Amino acid sequence: MRILRTIDEVRSAIAAARVNGDSIGLVPTMGAFHEGHLSLMRAARAAHDLVVVSLFVNPTQFGQNEDLGSYPRDEARDAALADAEGIDILFVPAADEIYPDGFATTIHVSGVTDVLCGASRGPRHFDGVATVVAKLFAIVAPDAAFFGQKDAQQVLVVRRLVRDLNLPVEVVACPIVREPDGLAMSSRNIYLDADARERATALNRALTAADDAAGAGARDAGEILAAARAILDAAGVDPEYLELRDADDLREVARVDGDALLAVAARVGAARLIDNHILRGGA
Ligand code: PAJ
Repeated sequence: MRILRTIDEVRSAIAAARVNGDSIGLVPTMGAFHEGHLSLMRAARAAHDLVVVSLFVNPTQFGQNEDLGSYPRDEARDAALADAEGIDILFVPAADEIYPDGFATTIHVSGVTDVLCGASRGPRHFDGVATVVAKLFAIVAPDAAFFGQKDAQQVLVVRRLVRDLNLPVEVVACPIVREPDGLAMSSRNIYLDADARERATALNRALTAADDAAGAGARDAGEILAAARAILDAAGVDPEYLELRDADDLREVARVDGDALLAVAARVGAARLIDNHILRGGA
């Protein structure tokens, strides 16, 4: 595996691969790898000749009071894990390689960013995500890019970006990877102390309770959400949001007839956690 730090080096490597006729897969990350990240790398590895993983803790997607300063960083560990997955290129740019002096462009995807994390973290979060993802697509020019369904709204933002700007990139969404007790893997889980780690299981348990209610025939959003809310209440978890929305356009749904995204965000101890399930209406 090659570790590249400049855009020029990445462009040269990509140009050489294209001469060979290689297909290119990209996995954008902020590092602190866990099985969720590795699952994306495996999916990219299985489908493409050359796989690029980017490791960049993107400052523009963090809010003022968020954890940019304390975000876990361990490049040597991440490089060893990516290497073990057979990754070809780990792209680790410095902040000024991505945002040089005078950088003045922001990509704003409207609509799907107005709700859920866009509302609770503020509009700048997804502006930062859309801008850095567009830059990574321009730098690497991949055939496909791999994202986790863990960040369901992020996937929708990237899909909208790709459609609206006619970017020739296939967006592949991969399933949520969970700990044995159901907690969705996240780089931020290391912020959880023992008590918070235990209470954090309430997020997935709440979503499962809602699944069960829908599976038993409930269609009314209020009824399904109440099943989830009861689990959060019992664990003393007060959600930032707990909402049922259309899985494609994030419009609020009153009844689950088509696929609905049940999404939750909550601060548990020192961590802000998110999780989601897709409820299959009519199933
Ligand atoms: P990061 O949080 O490092 O996540 C990188 C990718 O891993 C994202 O697509 C995310 O959805 C996926 N991922 C994280 N936890 C997962 C899990 N438990 N199961 C499956 N996939 C999981 O998301 C970002 O970085 C950034 O916003 C980024 C897209 C890199 C732009 O800066």
